[in-house]
Amino acid sequence: MTVTIVGSQLGDEGKGGVVDLYGDAADVVARYQGGDNAGHTVVHDGAKYKLSLVPSGAVRGKVGVLGNGCVVNPETLFDEIDTLRERGLEPDVRVAERAHVILPYHRALDGIEEDEKEDLAAGTTKRGIGPTYEDKAGRRGVRVGDLLDPDVLRERLEYVVPQKKALAEEVFGKETGEEFDIDHLYETYREYGERLAEEDMTVDCGSFLQKRIDAGDNVMLEGAQGTSLDIDHGVYPYVTSSNPTAGGATVGTGLGPTVIGDGEVIGIVKAYLSRVGTGPLPTELGGVEGQTPDYDATEGADADEEELATYIRDEGGEYGTVTGRPRRVGWLDMPMLRHAARANGFTGLAVNHIDVLAGLDEVKVGHSYEFDGEEIFTMPPTTEAWGRCEATFETFDGWSDVDWSAAAEDGYDAIPENARTYLEYIADELDAPIYAVGVGPGRGETVVVENPYE
Ligand code: GDP
Ligand code: IMO
Ligand code: MG
Repeated sequence: MTVTIVGSQLGDEGKGGVVDLYGDAADVVARYQGGDNAGHTVVHDGAKYKLSLVPSGAVRGKVGVLGNGCVVNPETLFDEIDTLRERGLEPDVRVAERAHVILPYHRALDGIEEDEKEDLAAGTTKRGIGPTYEDKAGRRGVRVGDLLDPDVLRERLEYVVPQKKALAEEVFGKETGEEFDIDHLYETYREYGERLAEEDMTVDCGSFLQKRIDAGDNVMLEGAQGTSLDIDHGVYPYVTSSNPTAGGATVGTGLGPTVIGDGEVIGIVKAYLSRVGTGPLPTELGGVEGQTPDYDATEGADADEEELATYIRDEGGEYGTVTGRPRRVGWLDMPMLRHAARANGFTGLAVNHIDVLAGLDEVKVGHSYEFDGEEIFTMPPTTEAWGRCEATFETFDGWSDVDWSAAAEDGYDAIPENARTYLEYIADELDAPIYAVGVGPGRGETVVVENPYE
């Protein structure tokens, strides 16, 4: 069967940790969208692994697949594989021949366009994700399979590179270097193709996964980013360029919707909210310069809010895995989660970072929004309307810090009562049961209520 792991908010909900937790029972872990914009952290035996492209299951020695819905930067791919090998692991990574390749000009154009966009910039990771998906939709992309055939690669590059160079130079007025040079790109990417072939890494993703399922293997589908960063269901244009939602798992792997729907879809929820990037955030506490819209450092937000935001940011280590940027933080946003539960059809929830909120006197949640004088319970479809929403808060009594590792061993009832009240509120509102509760970053720091493979 399949278990699909989906971020329910704005990324960094702790998906990597949950993949690692349940990954024990999985044989294959496949990513279905995104590229090296992701930053998934797995903490195993005190060692921390930060993966941006290779599926998190690689840390447990599972077969890792980059599905056709992913965009693959071969440089990152081989760097990560080599780093894991240096650390004594033997990652077995396969890449869909239908996946698109991130080329150096995509990265260059990502940076150029972000600077140009000003208020419309999403604050991207500048990994070339958007420009690569643009070329995919524009039918001028280079696919992983094309790297295996030098003639096809040459033909693709000769068509597309002059256009990209003209775009950079003539539209944006930038100087260009070897990232826009056909011969340089051809040589470099042909070599990547040779390595992919030598290590027998490429697959026809859908049929590869289906065969494993038919043979009785457990497959896990690892989403990157989160529902509100989804290009269709998120806070456009402050989104990524792919579909982290569960529908992306079928399109991005080649497994049928009935196969995915027959399995479990687990929503990963951070017990509060974090956001790296721009756009509105109705439950935000304080703000971060350069990311919070209209943030004025001299004027400042409410001092207590700033203090609380700093506390949560430091306790939760809320600094971007990929870019190191301080993340914006806020209270849990229930309208956002209701939207996610519906868009993904969650069959279960993993709520992480309950430990980070421990020690606060009270914990708030944005239960609904006030929007143009009305109370609404889910996100409006336009981001401008979302920006006009004001959160209506409910307050929960806080819980104290306990020995979380011991709680993880003793089970759900060892979680402080007030935290359980909070968790049960979330489960009730989203009409999905709690499968796991994250009480710390390590593999052993999760209270497992349900194992989806059992
Ligand atoms: P992902 O992108 O969804 O995989 O999440 P990230 O790895 O970017 O960010 C989650 C961060 O929180 C990582 O540093 C994790 O080690 C850490 N983490 C995950 N779950 C928990 C938890 O329950 N408690 C605490 N304190 N940290 C957690
Ligand atoms: P994981 O998988 C949090 C954000 C960026 C930016 C927007 C678009 O670790 O949860 P992109 O580079 O994708 O074009 O940027 O999306 N973003 C993420 N935020 N976690 C992520 O991944 C993210 N991947 C992209 O900050 O606002
Ligand atoms: Mg992350």
